[in-house]
This record gives sequence, C-alpha cells and structure tokens, in this order.
Amino acid sequence: MTRTPVNVTVTGAAGQIGYALLFRIASGHLLGPDVPVKLRLLEITPALKAAEGTAMELDDCAFPLLKGIDISDDPNVAFDGANVGLLVGARPRTAGMERGDLLEANGGIFGPQGKAINDHAADDIRVLVVGNPANTNALIAQSSAPDVPADRFTAMTRLDHNRAISQLSKKTGVPVSEIRRLTIWGNHSATQYPDIFHAEVAGKNAAETVNDEKWLAEEFIPTVAKRGAAIIAARGASSAASAANAAIDHVFTWTNGTAEGDWTSAGVVSDGSYGVPEGLISSFPVTAKDGRFEIVQGLDVNEFSRARIDASVAELEEEREAVRGLGLI
Ligand code: NAD
Ligand code: LMR
Repeated sequence: MTRTPVNVTVTGAAGQIGYALLFRIASGHLLGPDVPVKLRLLEITPALKAAEGTAMELDDCAFPLLKGIDISDDPNVAFDGANVGLLVGARPRTAGMERGDLLEANGGIFGPQGKAINDHAADDIRVLVVGNPANTNALIAQSSAPDVPADRFTAMTRLDHNRAISQLSKKTGVPVSEIRRLTIWGNHSATQYPDIFHAEVAGKNAAETVNDEKWLAEEFIPTVAKRGAAIIAARGASSAASAANAAIDHVFTWTNGTAEGDWTSAGVVSDGSYGVPEGLISSFPVTAKDGRFEIVQGLDVNEFSRARIDASVAELEEEREAVRGLGLI
C-alpha cells in the first residue's frame, strides 16, 4: 500500500541543528522506517541559499522515504498542510541583550509561526519547539494558535532527559538501556530539575542505589542542568547533533508511544498537576499513547524535589509574566 507522505516543517533549517536533523528525518528516524516524508524548510531570507545547499545534499542521498523538499521564507507557505512542526530557528542572545529583549525578539518569530500553524497546518499538527527559550517560545506559539488543541504544542526537554540518563549510567555502571522512569521537571534552563527519586537502574530504585545526596545535589543536578553551557564552552557552539537526536526521540516517542512501565520527559501544557500552574509549558514525566502525551500522575514529591520543581516553575511563571507584559500572549 502506498502511504501518503507526512509533511514535516523544520524552521531554522539552515542552522546547525537543522543540518544534523534533516538527514535523520529523511532516512526514517523521526516517524519510522515505513513512513514517507515531505520536508518543508523555513528560513529567513538571507539563509535561503544555505537551505538550498542542504536540500541539494538531501537529494544526493537518494533517500527512498523522502518524497519532496520545499523551501520558503514565509511561515504561511512552510506550514501549509504541516503534520509535524519542528520549530528550531530562534533569535540567539547576543552581547548586551537583556532577557526581555530576547523574549521580545523571539515573540516576533514564534507568534507569527503559531498563527501560520493555526491558519494553515493540517488538523493533526504536532509541534515541538527546540529554539530557546523553548518553553516560553512554545507558549507564545500555542497562544497564537487558538484553533489548535493546546496539547499539540510541546517544548524539548528530551536532551536534558538523555543527558541525565547518561550521567546516571556513568555513576552506577548500569547501561543506559536499563535506566527507566527518570524525570526532568520545569524549564529547559539551568533551573531544570532532573529527578532520580522515581527512576530505576536495572530494576532498582536509582536514588537508593546511588545513596549519595551530596553527589546528587552537587554533581548530578548541576552537571545535567549546565550541560548546555559546558558544550558551548567546549565546542564554541551550542549542542547540535545531540539536540537533533533528542528532537528525533521526542517526536518518535510522541507518535509511537512509550514502552510499558516507562516514561519520558517533555515540556507540555500543565493541567495543574504537581502544583504547576495551569497553562504553563513545563517539563513533566509523560507517557505517550495513541499520539498523545499524558502527565504521569500520583508520584510522591519529597521536600528535596519540591523545592527544586518550585524554583524552576517560578522561573517559567516569570517568563510568562514577561511575555504577557509585552503583549505576546
Ligand atoms: P543556528 O544559529 O545554527 O541556526 C538557527 C537558524 O534559525 C539559522 O539558520 C537562522 O537563519 C534561522 N532562523 C532565525 N530566525 C528564523 C525565523 N524567523 N524563521 C526561520 N528560521 C529562522 O542555531 P542552532 O544551533 O541550530 O540552534 C537553534 C536553537 O535551538 C537555538 O535557539 C538554541 O539555543 C536551541 N537549542 C535548544 C536545545 C533544547 O534542548 N531545547 C538544545 C540545543 C539548542
Ligand atoms: C542546550 O541545552 O544544549 C542548549 O539549550 C544550550 C543553548 O543555550 O543553546
């Protein structure tokens, strides 16, 4: 049976994450090895030529699943009929830029893109925001798309989740494949809280196995939370291949589901669970089934975790107030 190709729109397609991402989408890693895709690349006008170069390379791979590539600098064109939107392109913070300036500049990107999604995307559109500040950019896009169910807008914390699994594996000597139920709570920023109290390593509780609160507080949490900055310091550029990999993981899990008994982390619209104010896009433990993320319910949150979740959520609330004050939501 011939399947209709899935339209995948990628913004910031000529950037470094775009370069690491597009080839994996086209080779079937985003949606599965039997799902044909059409790529819709959105870039700003000066970067269109570079996007064309990437498209030439995609052609040169002769990927059997890749059924077409369109390039545009108009969000209304790039999101027309989109089933999946990967919102990667964002305005980076430059010298002298205040936090408010950054939020405002990104509002100018994610507001119009949200509106284009609202007006032109397919009914089953699913959006992952990667561009920073990812949670609040996702909130801006979601607020600009009132006709799209809010739960179709998500922000990426899967990279943080994967980083945390890797650090826990190094500490315990247990392979990453035997680590489950880890959670990233809050914002994709240095305030995020990677939580191992419910995690399992080789079937045993991770916090009890590690039994080292000093390592947890002084090594594990800061290493995961500040990993993005450490990569920038080492590479001279922010994470790209690992970010692209996490975007692939996020969408693959969203559409194909989590394994029985396991969960993952994603920035999703809060329904008030765990005291996170309704409407914020915050990272939670989530399962995925039938193309929907669900927040895992009923976990005990101890004092150690509560303080850290609250701190990250407070930062998200501040960001929400700031973009509200700027009239962006
Ligand atoms: P990059 O600067 O290499 O590429 C960004 C691209 O976006 C550029 O080609 C630029 O022309 C394009 N762009 C800018 N404005 C646009 C617009 N309005 N429409 C379409 N395209 C636009 O950056 P990168 O390394 O690819 O990173 C992209 C973003 O992802 C950054 O904001 C970065 O901080 C973020 N990031 C997030 C995570 C995460 O875990 N959530 C991880 C790594 C990086
Ligand atoms: C990351 O976590 O690697 C990035 O969000 C860092 C950044 O500031 O781009």
